[in-house]
Amino acid sequence: MLKNDLILKAARGENTERIPVWLMRQAGRILPEYRYVRNNVAGFKELVKNPELICEVTLQPVDILDVDAAIIFSDILVIPEAMGLNYEMIESKGPFFPETIKSQQDVDKLSIDVVAQLHYVFDSIKLTKNALNNRVPLIGFAGAPWTIFSYMIEGKGSKTFSNAKKMLYTNPELAHQLLQKITSSTIAYLQEQIKCGADIVQVFDSWAGVLSKAQYLEFALPYMQQICDAIKDVPVILFAKDAHYILNEFNETNCSVIGLDWTIEPQKARSEAPTKTLQGNLDPCVLYADKSNIKKETEKMLQAFGSQKYICNLGHGVYPDVDFEKAKYFIEVVKNFKTDN
Ligand code: CP3
Repeated sequence: MLKNDLILKAARGENTERIPVWLMRQAGRILPEYRYVRNNVAGFKELVKNPELICEVTLQPVDILDVDAAIIFSDILVIPEAMGLNYEMIESKGPFFPETIKSQQDVDKLSIDVVAQLHYVFDSIKLTKNALNNRVPLIGFAGAPWTIFSYMIEGKGSKTFSNAKKMLYTNPELAHQLLQKITSSTIAYLQEQIKCGADIVQVFDSWAGVLSKAQYLEFALPYMQQICDAIKDVPVILFAKDAHYILNEFNETNCSVIGLDWTIEPQKARSEAPTKTLQGNLDPCVLYADKSNIKKETEKMLQAFGSQKYICNLGHGVYPDVDFEKAKYFIEVVKNFKTDN
């Protein structure tokens, strides 16, 4: 039995005695203790494949920031790698794929049999679950099919993801084949994470914002739906950054929670997704402000969301140059907040 299951209760739509809170990208980035571990390995990928170290950095934010959940330290790009498309993580630049997907042959070569390749993630989950000793839930995660597709075609980060979008217009049939392969891999991956102990899972659609609503309906939503329909044992959080146009449709899926970025007003999200628990959505830049402004902005947001069917978070991952003391203060403000509804 979990000692603190506030996030799971909120995800299931049950009442909670206070608002639960965690931070996207809480593991790594802002913690000096993470930098220490990171500086003692050859590179990011060595860390991602080392269950003992993963366990250590996953627990750090629980110990230091006092968040209501742990999120397993990994990356969304382990899926393309397990499918056969290797990536490099270039220091202070980000991911780079030496080979990208261009043709039918490239798509045909990809494997969907990913579970055997990802034993290091599953071992890490088991180890971390044990080390957590039921203190808080463990969040598993994967990239959304559209976001993974974007990296596999583009080969690196991009402002426009225009190469990835080009395929939607020039070869939609091939795009669908690739999206389906990614989706099948992702479902097997998330199901295995759950078997190994993940209590809830989040699907990150970080590049949803480059798609129009019509494109999201055609190339992203059906695959998000497949994932929601396949995951039956734990709550699913859908987070599509900058896709404010899709809340109504997400409300009709089998997800439990909808993650929101800061461009969406809480009241608007409530009216467009009335049956789901909402998660978010403080602008990560608020954590650059002084403590009195952090408190003011956070409490304004909490008041607007109300205390039930709500999980507090930022509207995207915490930025790497944020002072972790400010992040810690944000968590404290949420935990001490008393709502009147
Ligand atoms: O939330 C957590 O703390 C768990 C760990 C986690 C990482 N990546 C570790 C990481 C999670 C949930 C992710 C998800 C991820 N990875 C996303 C979706 C979330 C989002 O922010 O939109 C995306 C788009 C990626 C791809 C990725 N991985 C990029 C663009 C980069 C480089 C820049 C950066 O720091 O985000 C990474 C590397 C990465 N993944 C780091 C960490 C801690 C930094 C690498 C390092 O320590 O050297």
